[in-house]
Amino acid sequence: MAKNNPLIVIITAFLVLSLMFSLVKATSTNITTDQHALLALKDHITYDPTNRLAQNWSRSSSICNWIGITCGVHHHRVTVLNISYFGLAGTLPPQLGNLSFLQVLAIGNNSFSGSLPDELFFLGNLSSLRVVDLSYNQLSGTIPSSIFQISSLERLDLTSNMFDGQIPLTISKCQLQMLSLSYNIFTGHIPKEIGNLTMLKELYL
Ligand SMILES: *[C@@H]1O[C@H](CO)[C@@H](O)[C@H](O)[C@H]1NC(C)=O
Ligand SMILES: *[C@@H]1O[C@H](CO)[C@@H](O)[C@H](O)[C@H]1NC(C)=O
Ligand SMILES: *[C@@H]1O[C@H](CO)[C@@H](O)[C@H](O)[C@H]1NC(C)=O
Ligand SMILES: *[C@@H]1O[C@H](CO)[C@@H](O)[C@H](O)[C@H]1NC(C)=O
Ligand SMILES: *[C@@H]1O[C@H](CO)[C@@H](O)[C@H](O)[C@H]1NC(C)=O
Ligand SMILES: *[C@@H]1O[C@H](CO)[C@@H](O)[C@H](O)[C@H]1NC(C)=O
Ligand SMILES: *[C@@H]1O[C@H](CO)[C@@H](O)[C@H](O)[C@H]1NC(C)=O
Repeated sequence: MAKNNPLIVIITAFLVLSLMFSLVKATSTNITTDQHALLALKDHITYDPTNRLAQNWSRSSSICNWIGITCGVHHHRVTVLNISYFGLAGTLPPQLGNLSFLQVLAIGNNSFSGSLPDELFFLGNLSSLRVVDLSYNQLSGTIPSSIFQISSLERLDLTSNMFDGQIPLTISKCQLQMLSLSYNIFTGHIPKEIGNLTMLKELYL
């Protein structure tokens, strides 16, 4: 009989807890949650020059067939939202924070405005994000410091918006490989915490 090695007990407890966490995440929300989140986004679009979302994001077809959307092969939940270069104007609704399996959020080269809702990156929401590309829009307000708590975040591209305020000191909490803050109106110092981003390969200020 194996002794109760404390390390094994801790590792087992950790594995059981992670499994429970992913089960809770998978069962408390479903594809209907994702549909509501995307329809909320559609409702917040004020200009859609080619009527792409108006025509294609239809309740009668599965969201996994909507233009700009990719779903996971196994769990059939939204993993990629890429509506870059659609020419859209509008704002980002807090409901986007309910896309629990989202890995890529790419809305570059549109005319999105307004601030990033706090709920978006709040405690565990969007906790699978790898890529956030908000470049070339008219987004404003401060960068929510919660975004840097997302440990999976690899790329954050905020190029050419109107973000202001200070660069959050929490910046070194994630494993960023690419960070662009170019062409915004940030103030204050470049935090020395940037030097602790050991995986960083590209930095644009
Ligand atoms: C999603 O969950 C809600 C309640 O949590 C339920 O009413 C609905 O039928 C579920 N939808 C699917 C497609 O499983
Ligand atoms: C987002 O999720 C929360 C619970 O996590 C729920 O209360 C809310 O209604 C959801 N919003 C939508 C639009 O589904
Ligand atoms: C939406 O666009 C996708 C990709 O272009 C296409 O496969 C799908 O048939 C379109 N759906 C509708 C309802 O137009
Ligand atoms: C989003 O789509 C555009 C155009 O199809 C593509 O160039 C870009 O690489 C995509 N972005 C991401 C993050 O996948
Ligand atoms: C975000 O996470 C919080 C806490 O887990 C939850 O209450 C909320 O419903 C989630 N979704 C949104 C859209 O805020
Ligand atoms: C994206 O938009 C910016 C600003 O309008 C523009 O300078 C850039 O050329 C665009 N990128 C592409 C690939 O069209
Ligand atoms: C950066 O990392 C070094 C070495 O791990 C650590 O001593 C220091 O406290 C960190 N600094 C900040 C500002 O996080």
